[in-house]
Amino acid sequence: MPSKNPQQAKWNQRYQNTQAPNAPARVLIDNRHLLPLQGDALELACGLGGNALELARAGLRTQAWDISDVAIAKLQHLARQQQLPLQACCIDLEPQSLGVASFDLICVTGYLDRALCPAISAALRPGGLLFYQTFSGAKHGTSGPSNPDFVLQQGELLRLFCKLTPLVYREPLHDLNPDQNRPDQAYLVARR
Ligand SMILES: C[S@@+](CC[C@H](N)C(=O)[O-])C[C@H]1O[C@@H](n2cnc3c(N)ncnc32)[C@H](O)[C@@H]1O
Repeated sequence: MPSKNPQQAKWNQRYQNTQAPNAPARVLIDNRHLLPLQGDALELACGLGGNALELARAGLRTQAWDISDVAIAKLQHLARQQQLPLQACCIDLEPQSLGVASFDLICVTGYLDRALCPAISAALRPGGLLFYQTFSGAKHGTSGPSNPDFVLQQGELLRLFCKLTPLVYREPLHDLNPDQNRPDQAYLVARR
């Protein structure tokens, strides 16, 4: 039965014909040495869960949440097949979904809901790590979001997570390569 939630219907349609999970995001690859050896991890707006699978393979008990039940079913199937410690849940994210001091690591990529950011900071345990990467800058390529509300302003990740201690921050210098037809993304690794 088609979903009544237009956001869910849109993403379900997109994931219907996609099987392979996305590759892990650069924020995880570049900063793999910062991953804890154990603990509870959460990927928000995980899609097919390329990051969540990577975290589970690294030995973290991992939860993966997304509004698309199609993506969640595919991810849970793959995790079961590979016997990974990963639980995938279909959730329409709201600040109250997150709880307080519940996770040692939270990962978000390709998703921006500014209203969630204080709850994300609070959902980390003391010492817990945030890995956040998303679209940044006034100019971005064809595969980025068309709605400018979903694109970070300069330095915005640092402001959104000002209660955390930044460990690594990377932001593209758009003016230096204005012709590149690919989305530019900023990333932050920060500790509570
Ligand atoms: C651009 S995709 C990014 C997927 C994945 N994180 C990645 O980097 O490949 C955005 C994701 O956000 C999810 N999403 C959109 N609105 C949501 C909501 N209200 N609650 C939970 N997930 C949502 C979509 O289903 C989609 O999987």
